[in-house]
Amino acid sequence: MEHTMNLNDVLLRYADYQMNARKILNPSCRVCKICNGVACAGRFTNSLEFGGKGNNGGFINAVRGLADIQIELDPIHEDYIPDTRCSFFGHDFDLPVFASPIAKILTDYTFDSPFFNNNGKYAAALIKGCWQAGGMAWLGDNKEPGYFPGQVEPIREVGGAAVPTIKPWADREEFWKRVEWSRQAGAMAIATDLDAIGLGYQYSGAVGSKNEGVCTRTVAELKEIVERIDRPVVIKGIMSVKAAVKCKEAGAYGILISNHGGNVVENSAAPCDVVAGIRKAVGHGMKIFADGGVRSGEDVFKMLALGADAVGIGRPYVVAVYGGGQDGASIYTQKIYWELQNIMRLTDCRTLKDITADKLIRRR
Ligand SMILES: Cc1cc2nc3c(=O)[nH]c(=O)nc-3n(C[C@H](O)[C@H](O)[C@H](O)COP(=O)(O)O)c2cc1C
Repeated sequence: MEHTMNLNDVLLRYADYQMNARKILNPSCRVCKICNGVACAGRFTNSLEFGGKGNNGGFINAVRGLADIQIELDPIHEDYIPDTRCSFFGHDFDLPVFASPIAKILTDYTFDSPFFNNNGKYAAALIKGCWQAGGMAWLGDNKEPGYFPGQVEPIREVGGAAVPTIKPWADREEFWKRVEWSRQAGAMAIATDLDAIGLGYQYSGAVGSKNEGVCTRTVAELKEIVERIDRPVVIKGIMSVKAAVKCKEAGAYGILISNHGGNVVENSAAPCDVVAGIRKAVGHGMKIFADGGVRSGEDVFKMLALGADAVGIGRPYVVAVYGGGQDGASIYTQKIYWELQNIMRLTDCRTLKDITADKLIRRR
């Protein structure tokens, strides 16, 4: 797209959308200026409210982990417009940033919004808003009948440029049905969030009974999934070298390093802290996506410098869509786009390839 709005105008409009969202999402989400897991810590019993599991430790760690990394500046060089263009899954994007998959928010409150309990509408605004600004949306998964086919439908409107993320359903037919719906909508890739087994309510494998929830996958099964699906497969919820190496063995196109927004393990590590080790272990043959606590173009820069190929942002996109609909998702993407360009100019990075680990200073 042509990025005709400058950062100031984008920030002003984004502030309006945050204000709108604050009226709609309170008290479930306070829409803090920076979404960092502090105000919502320990307030919810449901793991898929806006907060994370238990004390919010995993969510807060993700944000703090990035804050503890600083960037070395070098503003003395010729002037240029940093090039943030990139390609994934056979599609071109203006920036290596995507909306992470967020399924239906399970809340005790009712939101006065056309997007509440209407995931088709929500997904359409998110997918089109991200795409319009040169980014992409990944989508979540939920058991509710009609939920999945409804949300993949709008993928057609952006030529397939979105990634449905399918839960590792114990009932394999449920999994393959979702693959088929995604294929029919033309989705450019498919992801599966294996760490969903940590969302307590999803794992309903009582001894001797049918498991209606999610369950684990073996390397052999992942290989079958990669071979059977005629498009790139990304495995989400990877937080260790051990698991990343298994994904490589299975032939995955990529992994998404993520602690599920702190939703599966109470005090889980910050995703940014495992990116460099995983990159070193798996090399460059497999794409590395990473999310968790990313709130600005500077955070994106840090994840890329640590070794990620592209970076996901979760909760702020929910705020953006509730506050501003499709334009909200577009404006939020543009905010990240301009912030990434700013920090690239401040660090003498002309292209994404110039964003390297030696530009980071670790405080810890
Ligand atoms: C309310 C909520 C719902 C989520 N639903 C899903 C989902 O359906 N599938 C999935 O893979 N991840 C899901 N996630 C995790 C996000 O994809 C992502 O990993 C996380 O939100 C990133 O952290 P951030 O929100 O701090 O940016 C969910 C997270 C939240 C907060």
